Amino acid sequence: MSDKEKIADFAARAKREGRKITMVAAYDYAMARLIDRSHVDMVLVGDSLANVMLGLDSTVQVGMEEMIHHAKAVCRGAERAPVIGDMPLGSYVTDVLALENARRFIEEAGCDAVKLEWFDDCPAVAAKLIADGISVMGHIGLTPQTAERFVVQGKDAASAQAIRDQAAQLSRSGCFALVLECVPAELARTISREIPIATIGIGAGVHCDGQVLVAHDLLGLYDRFRPKFVKRYAALNEEVVKALDAYAREVAAGEFPGPQHSYTVEPKVPKDQSTE
Ligand code: KIV
Repeated sequence: MSDKEKIADFAARAKREGRKITMVAAYDYAMARLIDRSHVDMVLVGDSLANVMLGLDSTVQVGMEEMIHHAKAVCRGAERAPVIGDMPLGSYVTDVLALENARRFIEEAGCDAVKLEWFDDCPAVAAKLIADGISVMGHIGLTPQTAERFVVQGKDAASAQAIRDQAAQLSRSGCFALVLECVPAELARTISREIPIATIGIGAGVHCDGQVLVAHDLLGLYDRFRPKFVKRYAALNEEVVKALDAYAREVAAGEFPGPQHSYTVEPKVPKDQSTE
């Protein structure tokens, strides 16, 4: 994505040209800098922050203050990649509250867009934010903030139709993209063909217009829970433990710090005793 290209323009062009979009969820400055150096298109400051960063059981346990705190850090690190702030449960129940909180993501944290999980008033709330100039990504299928059971959604005809209707409504509201989480690949293909905006899948098969994974999952840094849709592209957990053990071993053996990691004071020779 070019420096100043708007996130919505980028997503529309990528869909039109059949170029797959990549998004990664991340929560801190150091990771955002690494993503920024890669070819990943965009960063989501997901409310999965709750599980991955804070060790909580559910995304419902984070609120605006934590999300803004981490969104600020990610925005400091992501100079190239646009950043999407995930609005936490309770932050967009009315359009007034949604506007106030979405503006915080954009103006206070520096995000380029916000993401909303589906609820009945989601299309109206999304339209309100978009009318205010805020780019909105929708999120349908499995929506962890309100899900009763973490299972694949849209497996029968009625629930598949309901998800297709939600996609159509959010597209009509002006959302620039939709996350499709944990739906059958065939349903994701149908939706991706039916709506003009980009679909970004997670556990939604290969036919989406793009994919999203959590950075800590794809790098193998988070091993408490591993859904079927996660592919590990590295096992950094093993590398991290190996490095920590090497450090502990060298400290115990008096090998670290060596002279190259230590400071010394040059002995000062008084001028009148100097031979130079
Ligand atoms: O919070 C998150 O990381 C998300 C992605 C899984 C889409 O919402």
